[in-house]
Amino acid sequence: MKVITLVTQKGGSGKSTLCVSLAVAAHEAGHSVCILEMDRQATVTQWAKQRHGMDPEVAQISADKLDGALTKLRTVDCEYVFLDTPGIDSPGTNLAIAASDLCLVPCRPTPADLKGVAPTLGAIFRLEKDFAFVLNQTPPKGIRIKETAEGLSSLGVLADVNIVMRNDHQDAMGKGEGVTEFNPTGPAAEEIRKLWAWIDNRTKAIPHVKAA
Ligand SMILES: Nc1ncnc2c1ncn2[C@@H]1O[C@H](COP(=O)(O)OP(=O)(O)O)[C@@H](O)[C@H]1O
Ligand SMILES: [Mg+2]
Repeated sequence: MKVITLVTQKGGSGKSTLCVSLAVAAHEAGHSVCILEMDRQATVTQWAKQRHGMDPEVAQISADKLDGALTKLRTVDCEYVFLDTPGIDSPGTNLAIAASDLCLVPCRPTPADLKGVAPTLGAIFRLEKDFAFVLNQTPPKGIRIKETAEGLSSLGVLADVNIVMRNDHQDAMGKGEGVTEFNPTGPAAEEIRKLWAWIDNRTKAIPHVKAA
């Protein structure tokens, strides 16, 4: 089992949006997947309510239940756990980072967002965790992307797929779907599938640890 944590202190950068669409893309690629939501805002839980039990399974948990939930998931056939975290620096967020095999740090292409990754990055470095930035909500092209990409690349690994700002993400979320379900042939779906493939490849070297 591998734990992929969407984390950054900066609210609105796209943690929940990427979490659900990546989890759906991973499920569509044939993996067994579940989502744990640690954010009291319950964005993902609301999303899941509209799916009427369709995979991936979603559970909302508090920080003190994280270890127990992961231990339980290791005993069932769950290959990937996507962990969605709140946009605050809290002991719970640190526990989520500590439990992860890969932290994904979404960042919008603005100077304020670039500065905003610092506290999250500090926690990831302290806990010596693997991580990658994902540029999200970008314009289709332009200098802003290049500047932020250069800034992020100087701090760590940047996923080689940018997620463009597209209505499909907002509409899919509203309908309880991943973008690959909402508009399977659209460009947003294509970007998410490519990002999932990048993540899958990056986490390949990590062994799937199952409970005895
Ligand atoms: N790639 C994207 N394209 C369009 N809208 C997006 C994209 N990513 C996120 N959003 C929108 O931005 C807002 C914040 O996203 P959300 O995933 O809730 O952020 P976070 O969980 O980091 O607070 C939501 O309204 C969401 O629909
Ligand atoms: Mg969120």
